[in-house]
Amino acid sequence: MVMGSVKLSVKGWKTARTRPAVLIVIVLQALGLGACSLQEPAQPRIEEEIVKQERIYRSRGANVPSGYVTGRALSDYAELLPSGFCDALGSLGSSDRWLDVGAGDGQAILDYYAPGDDAAPVGKCARLAGRARAVAMSIEDRRTEKWQEQVTSRGDDRMRYLFGKRLRHYSREELGKFQIITDVYGGFSYTEDLSQFLEKVLSLLETDGVFYTMVQGVHLEGDKNKPTTSYLTELVDAAGRDVKVCSWLKETTCVKVGCESKSDWDSPTELINIRKVCSDVSVPGMKLLKYEAGNPPGRRFQLEP
Ligand SMILES: C[S@@+](CC[C@H](N)C(=O)[O-])C[C@H]1O[C@@H](n2cnc3c(N)ncnc32)[C@H](O)[C@@H]1O
Repeated sequence: MVMGSVKLSVKGWKTARTRPAVLIVIVLQALGLGACSLQEPAQPRIEEEIVKQERIYRSRGANVPSGYVTGRALSDYAELLPSGFCDALGSLGSSDRWLDVGAGDGQAILDYYAPGDDAAPVGKCARLAGRARAVAMSIEDRRTEKWQEQVTSRGDDRMRYLFGKRLRHYSREELGKFQIITDVYGGFSYTEDLSQFLEKVLSLLETDGVFYTMVQGVHLEGDKNKPTTSYLTELVDAAGRDVKVCSWLKETTCVKVGCESKSDWDSPTELINIRKVCSDVSVPGMKLLKYEAGNPPGRRFQLEP
């Protein structure tokens, strides 16, 4: 895998700064973004930030930034995803499929399959039967020993872990279709192309399937924002006016969008469920204006008119 050969570490950043152009070209080529965009004067800052972000994905051990949490349990997913997620997961049958985009260690899927006594002790999603097939997806390989042990002891392919590329680089044929797709501080919070990301997610959902996600530091539905809040993901229209993430989502065709606004959390957070109701999905496009590496990154997008 091309990206696997790009050896970057947080420690190595100092050295790498002395040759930023070379580094950026290598990483952008690995990401499939191409080097020719380096010629465009407005882009270098974004491209440098994407290189920094890549370093966060690749970080290991003591170099993992403390805010980059990769081991949330299924009970954390139950708290961070919209109400209805646990019931939906619990209702899946043996021929159904669940994709977790941005799965990190895959702990939520491990909990789903934990045998009897090992099941997660608390939380709304505890003691689910683990009937459906589950696919964990992460850019970087964060499989743990526990994951490997569970796969070996099961001896089947009902839990899979995909890594080495972003969601957008998989074909629909490779992945197949899913009844449930989840994303907890995954691609939806980290991608540089929110429209393309959502369109890909929706293309992988069966009709009547649901995408459960969340995004922190956004303008909430219903003007519940505190005036002093600083935002992580901002959307603006062609005239530069703020657009709420849920208003944008509701412009998508063939979906039913539900938003639960958490205005009293440390950072205003929207818990989102998107049900696909027909196949002719079209997500309004947007372009990236700002990207600042982080956990999650700061982003600003402009909706296309
Ligand atoms: C902060 S971790 C969250 C892990 C897990 N969901 C949790 O809550 O513990 C972010 C994860 O999202 C993945 N990710 C970010 N952007 C992605 C994309 N476009 N496609 C697939 N995975 C992505 C990263 O590789 C990583 O596994």
